[in-house]
Amino acid sequence: MADTTGKVITCQAAVAWEAKKPLTLETVEVEPPRAGEVRIKVLYTGVCHTDAYLLDGFDPEGAFPIIMGHEGGGVVESVGEGVTSVQPGDHVIPLYIPQCNECKFCKSPKTNLCGKIRATQGKGVMPDGTSRFKCKGKTLLHFMGCSTFSQYTVVTEISVTKVEPGSTCAIWGLGAVGLAVAMGCKEAGAKRIIGVDINPDKFELGKKFGLTEGVNPKDYNKPIQEVLVEMTDGGLDYTFECIGNVACMRAALESCHKGWGVSTIIGVAAAGQEISTRPFQLVTGRVWKGTAFGGWKSRESVPKLVDSYMNKKLLVDEFVSHNLNLDQINEAFDLMHAGKSVRTVVKL
Ligand code: APR
Ligand code: ZN
Repeated sequence: MADTTGKVITCQAAVAWEAKKPLTLETVEVEPPRAGEVRIKVLYTGVCHTDAYLLDGFDPEGAFPIIMGHEGGGVVESVGEGVTSVQPGDHVIPLYIPQCNECKFCKSPKTNLCGKIRATQGKGVMPDGTSRFKCKGKTLLHFMGCSTFSQYTVVTEISVTKVEPGSTCAIWGLGAVGLAVAMGCKEAGAKRIIGVDINPDKFELGKKFGLTEGVNPKDYNKPIQEVLVEMTDGGLDYTFECIGNVACMRAALESCHKGWGVSTIIGVAAAGQEISTRPFQLVTGRVWKGTAFGGWKSRESVPKLVDSYMNKKLLVDEFVSHNLNLDQINEAFDLMHAGKSVRTVVKL
């Protein structure tokens, strides 16, 4: 790819010239990022009601022409002076609520509404009061500090967050817990998500939740950690134990890549059980940790999770394999013990 640093980039963007008119695909010019700014090659964008709201002319502060879009992902193309938190090539998500960590909002635990660039963002311009977009000699406005309907966009450094895509993950146990982990790995951009389960019937459902492949330890006559290390050129970046079996916990740790692999214990082992491994596994850079309740602070997070279900970002219905009435509750246990249910929901 040619080095475009410091140059105006010409690319395609969907432009909203005025309210109540369809967007038109245009060739636009995107200026290089100035101090504290980042230029991003946008790879994907969502289309959201908030975009429609502006386009339909309902937003009293809506101004045109503008490049909308605020749910996207991409790769940093170049950075402006003084930018240190991201560099070209980083995978990033533009954030319509930035985080400067300096303003009184950022310093308060009560809110996430950073105020640093609010005034200029609301006017559709960068913090210096100008736009980075031009089309047919006209200046186009930015939208929500993101403008992801353009193949290239410029945002402030405090409006991007780095993600770590392309990791390899393996998950022991494909019950509801393991499936939820698969969904999390997918969300985080993992490129390979391997389910490890002695019941191969689980692999198909697992694929809905993001599994890229399934491995049954019973299919091999050597320890599963050896199989996985071979399959993944030295081991996995992240492994998760979602069964509560201490032998699986060991296998999950030992399947991690030397130097950086992290193994997280989620399954609850029976009372009195203990874990073991050779200490050399840890000396050579693997990390063994655990989590409860997904690491979420409960009261503040559950409403967010519910929202993300309501917005269809989180799968929940897919976990429900059976619906029963209260007087059938024992069947729910039978189904669970027989490995036939993922989750049974009981109506009271
Ligand atoms: N190796 C691989 N897979 C196994 C093994 C094993 N030795 N033993 C069981 N499994 C698989 C089962 O086939 C099943 O698909 O693990 C999965 C466990 O799923 P569920 O029984 O549905 O359990 P889940 O509800 O997901 O909870 C898992 O998390 O919260 C804890 O207490 C809970 O310890 C439990 C764990
Ligand atoms: Zn702030």
